[in-house]
Amino acid sequence: MDTIKLVINHVYDFVSEKEILQQADKATAANKALHDGSRAGNDFLGWVNLPSSCTENSIRDIEDAATALRTRCDVVVVVGIGGSYLGARAVIDALSSSFDWLQHERKDPVILYAGNNIGEDYLYELTKYLEKREFGIINISKSGTTTEPAIAFRILKDLLIGKVGKEESCKRIVAITDASKGALRTLANTEGYTTFVIPDDIGGRYSVLTPVGLLPIAVAGIDIRKLLQGAKDMEEATGASTSYEINLPAIYAAIRNELYKKGKKIEILANYNPKLHYFAEWWKQLYGESEGKEGKGIFPAAVDFTTDLHSMGQWIQEGERTIFETVLSVKEPKENVKIPHDEANLDGLNFLKGKRVDEVNKMAELGTLIAHMDGGVPNILIEIPKLSEYYIGQLIYFFEKACGISGYMLDVNPFNQPGVEAYKKNMFALLEKPGYEEATKAIKARI
Ligand code: PA5
Repeated sequence: MDTIKLVINHVYDFVSEKEILQQADKATAANKALHDGSRAGNDFLGWVNLPSSCTENSIRDIEDAATALRTRCDVVVVVGIGGSYLGARAVIDALSSSFDWLQHERKDPVILYAGNNIGEDYLYELTKYLEKREFGIINISKSGTTTEPAIAFRILKDLLIGKVGKEESCKRIVAITDASKGALRTLANTEGYTTFVIPDDIGGRYSVLTPVGLLPIAVAGIDIRKLLQGAKDMEEATGASTSYEINLPAIYAAIRNELYKKGKKIEILANYNPKLHYFAEWWKQLYGESEGKEGKGIFPAAVDFTTDLHSMGQWIQEGERTIFETVLSVKEPKENVKIPHDEANLDGLNFLKGKRVDEVNKMAELGTLIAHMDGGVPNILIEIPKLSEYYIGQLIYFFEKACGISGYMLDVNPFNQPGVEAYKKNMFALLEKPGYEEATKAIKARI
């Protein structure tokens, strides 16, 4: 079986092979620490052996729940924020037809998202759309107390009960949350929803291969077994005893840390396939929340090329030289679209006649790589043979592993996110949430 590939020779104009190799021991030690649990955050390492430890029963339970929702619903709304929706959306967008949801005769339910913002218009428009549809809800929150999904769920649950009644609505709602703690657990137990548990030792942004990601992905008609197989093969290829030279996540982590040391403070994840937009959103959260702390961390940014070459291209080519680029390059598209011959050739495009659209895309990619390197931007390339469950599974585990290694190399705990609490505390104080009286007084004195 083929594998994703890491092309690293385009960084050597900026950091030497020798300098990167000096990071190898640190990267290998960090990888080992993820396996032996000897460093900070060791109570959140459940994702490390997750692909190889998924049982047949646990997979079948997810598939059965997916089938039940698929049978009853034309639309399924995934309610969740951050790690509780980005992984599912990344995989579903990467592997589904971009226009399927517009088709009247679909074989898979439409997957929509809510609870990932507090947009009133968004929720209004969503409820208007859902009023006329047979819909169900997958409500995901590890803590079971997050405000954004809680608001969306209350509104959508109300709509669903009003539409199909309490008994049927219970059959169309699945809750994914902690085994015992949190408001969502209490609600789910009281109402009798089907539930799945997010393991204690897996944080939100590492949870895509738990029911958090797998259930919505299975509802969308995507083969979760192949996804897990790809992740499992990557897990096996990156174990504690894998030597640095063949350990792709360790190599990626070593390079990005060396570039960071040299002042490259921003990593731009670029893709040349619009289906990967949400994969980059998932990656941004994974790296941003894992590394950005204690006044340190590479800032993870993302662009969709060639779209953003017409917006961010100028900055990347000639702006402050503090960036490096990691490119997700899909080798082979699924479909085949050729540019037709046009007798009149009024658009002057006949030099492209007979070529596949992807051939043009690949030349844009190569031309951009050379231009950006000439402009002082180091380039790491990740080659993905094709967009399939198997390779997306590999890619997910590759980035998770590299993130853990990178965080340890940076000397931070990659598995906490203390900074996320700051806005919540202020928001609750401003909303006068019970228990926040002191904070309310303090914040009101400042505004
Ligand atoms: O990675 C994380 O832990 C966070 O991004 C969470 O996923 C996010 O804040 C949502 O939290 P919860 O699942 O508890 O609602």
